[in-house]
Amino acid sequence: MHGALVTGLAGADQVTGLDELLVTTRAVRRRLDLTRPVDVELVRECLRVALQAPNGANGQRWRWLVVTEPGLRRDIGQVYRRAFENRYPPAVQANGATARQLAGARYLAENLARVPVLVIPCLELSGPRLPDGNQAGVWGSLLPAVWSYMLAARARGLGTVWTTVHLDAEADVARLLGLPATVHQGALIPTAHTLGDTFAPAPRHELDTVLHLNGWHDKPPAEKRNPAMPTMSAHPPAAAPGPGTTAVGDWLARFVDGWRAGDPRAIGALFTPDATYYRGPFEPRRRGTREIVDHWTEVVSKWPAPEVRLGAPLVQGERASVEFWCVVRDPATGTPRTTAGSLVLRFAPDGRCARWHEYFSLRPDGAALEPAPDWLG
Ligand SMILES: Cc1cc2nc3c(=O)[nH]c(=O)nc-3n(C[C@H](O)[C@H](O)[C@H](O)COP(=O)(O)O)c2cc1C
Repeated sequence: MHGALVTGLAGADQVTGLDELLVTTRAVRRRLDLTRPVDVELVRECLRVALQAPNGANGQRWRWLVVTEPGLRRDIGQVYRRAFENRYPPAVQANGATARQLAGARYLAENLARVPVLVIPCLELSGPRLPDGNQAGVWGSLLPAVWSYMLAARARGLGTVWTTVHLDAEADVARLLGLPATVHQGALIPTAHTLGDTFAPAPRHELDTVLHLNGWHDKPPAEKRNPAMPTMSAHPPAAAPGPGTTAVGDWLARFVDGWRAGDPRAIGALFTPDATYYRGPFEPRRRGTREIVDHWTEVVSKWPAPEVRLGAPLVQGERASVEFWCVVRDPATGTPRTTAGSLVLRFAPDGRCARWHEYFSLRPDGAALEPAPDWLG
């Protein structure tokens, strides 16, 4: 479709062509052609289009790092993969569309070095520190241009995907690229020819679930604002559900990391300072970071190195629920213990957990059991 997009179209046809470009520029991971080289001139063409994007006071502080050299791609690929595995260890499992997206993202993390071109858009600021507070004005001078680049690439038969997971190790990438401290990375856009050229619009929530006409008071009901993603769609979902699910998956991954690392303070930092924490409906309530850290100090010493499996979280507004299956071993005797249950969590606006309700069953006979095949479904 890319050949027909802009040229030769007029009026309504042009709008249709442009809309099609906008709604079919998808996150391409598995369909990046890792074997076909990309002419850098094509990337330069896309970047020339991107440079027409709006930016604050037309200051044009964007800087575009284009990486084609295999050794450098390998090194950046290693940083990316490490950051990805830290954030989404294999213990984080999912189902349905989330599982497909996670598997695609994992595939990308494992193959980033093989993607022929990595584009790293940056902003050069006057100092090494990003401003406190709302940074929309800063990043707004880069991110529209990044999207323009991706659209221009799609129009030329190239596939891209917006990635940011490497920013967890931003300094490592900066070192590899020789970036000065004043240059801040905004994203990393793997770019390659695509395998095939048919891309469909993705599942998104209906407009009326997020639209406020003439003020917030016109807000849609809460259940409409964060609806579950539809399971059926005219176009099978190519990738992820809503960002809420991703954020909760991320939180859970960090929680499991903290336990596996034996780091109760890292776990405590995932909760709001006044969070309430119930290990079970009839257990005493713990409240606040100190009591949660104390509890986890005991857990990590009694039950180190857990094997944790999680189902796909169900997210509705600020609440989330997830099933878990967990095998731990007594560090002295090696005797295993299997527990399974579910968590019902409430999240604060800053992404930390404000309320933890846990329901769990303990297998009493000291066995290490695998979940039934449909258990975490
Ligand atoms: C700010 C941002 C950060 C993202 N980070 C990553 C990432 O680190 N790795 C990845 O594989 N995809 C990443 N994505 C891609 C999203 O998962 C993708 O845009 C989303 O699932 C929608 O895909 P779709 O447009 O094909 O439906 C990111 C997207 C955005 C906008």
